Amino acid sequence: MGPLTPLAAALSVVATASATASSFNLQSNWGNLSPYAPSPGFTLPSGNPIGCELTQTHILHRHAQRYPTSYLLDALSMEAFAEKLKNFTTAHPNTTLATGPLSFLNHWEYVMGTEELLPTGAATEATSGAWFWSKYGRTLYKAPAGMADWSDDLNVFPNGTQRKKPMFRTTSQARILESARWWLSGFFSNVGANNSYPQYDLVIIPEGDGYNNTLSGYCPAATYPG
Ligand SMILES: *[C@@H]1O[C@H](CO)[C@@H](O)[C@H](O)[C@H]1NC(C)=O
Ligand SMILES: *[C@@H]1O[C@H](CO)[C@@H](O)[C@H](O)[C@H]1NC(C)=O
Ligand SMILES: *[C@@H]1O[C@H](CO)[C@@H](O)[C@H](O)[C@H]1NC(C)=O
Ligand SMILES: *[C@@H]1O[C@H](CO)[C@@H](O)[C@H](O)[C@H]1NC(C)=O
Ligand SMILES: *[C@@H]1O[C@H](CO)[C@@H](O)[C@H](O)[C@H]1NC(C)=O
Repeated sequence: MGPLTPLAAALSVVATASATASSFNLQSNWGNLSPYAPSPGFTLPSGNPIGCELTQTHILHRHAQRYPTSYLLDALSMEAFAEKLKNFTTAHPNTTLATGPLSFLNHWEYVMGTEELLPTGAATEATSGAWFWSKYGRTLYKAPAGMADWSDDLNVFPNGTQRKKPMFRTTSQARILESARWWLSGFFSNVGANNSYPQYDLVIIPEGDGYNNTLSGYCPAATYPG
């Protein structure tokens, strides 16, 4: 591995610090901004008891990372606090707002909105759906070795007759509906990841003979003797 760039160096410093710090996990204490984490398991053994078969699985899943709600004790109180600081600074332009451990408040800006599912929440849901497919869906639908993704062909009764589509339930509230859709995209392997196609141009450089593809490890023009 080559020399660390400043960003990589900073990241590795952070990683070292958190690995050696106490068991306090900052990310799991962010409330509504915390990523989903599976429960520690209630000390129950995991896996199927020998000789048993999975015939159904149940999951009740909360929406993932979101902005605070516009409830008085949630976003409203934080917005009011930010406004209070701003009012103070405006009224006392030449006074230092805070010192010592609170001096970060001198540059602090409140940037959160309300209610919406965040991009990190969408990613959390997709990951969770993919994880659930891998851990339970494959077993339930008896996906054969080598079949990575969900297939309609698996959705049959033991006699081979096609079953009805699997059904899921969610609510109409935007962040919850979006969470459900992202989760299902993970479960059903939206491998094309192509819903955002119209938003960007992607240059797809072919690999293989006849192309000097510098993104490929075996680009002929990038192989050196010795
Ligand atoms: C900030 O100042 C505005 C304008 O004077 C006022 O309407 C508002 O209530 C103040 N906000 C807080 C949280 O004190
Ligand atoms: C703040 O400081 C500036 C520059 O030092 C000065 O011109 C201004 O009058 C001061 N304002 C107040 C409210 O004291
Ligand atoms: C296959 O099994 C399902 C579920 O037991 C049943 O509803 C269906 O009628 C069966 N189909 C045939 C062709 O036997
Ligand atoms: C999305 O990607 C998948 C996998 O590459 C492809 O099979 C499918 O045709 C694509 N769908 C659209 C609408 O482009
Ligand atoms: C790939 O690079 C090599 C070495 O520079 C060159 O001889 C060859 O013509 C290039 N091939 C293509 C398809 O551009």
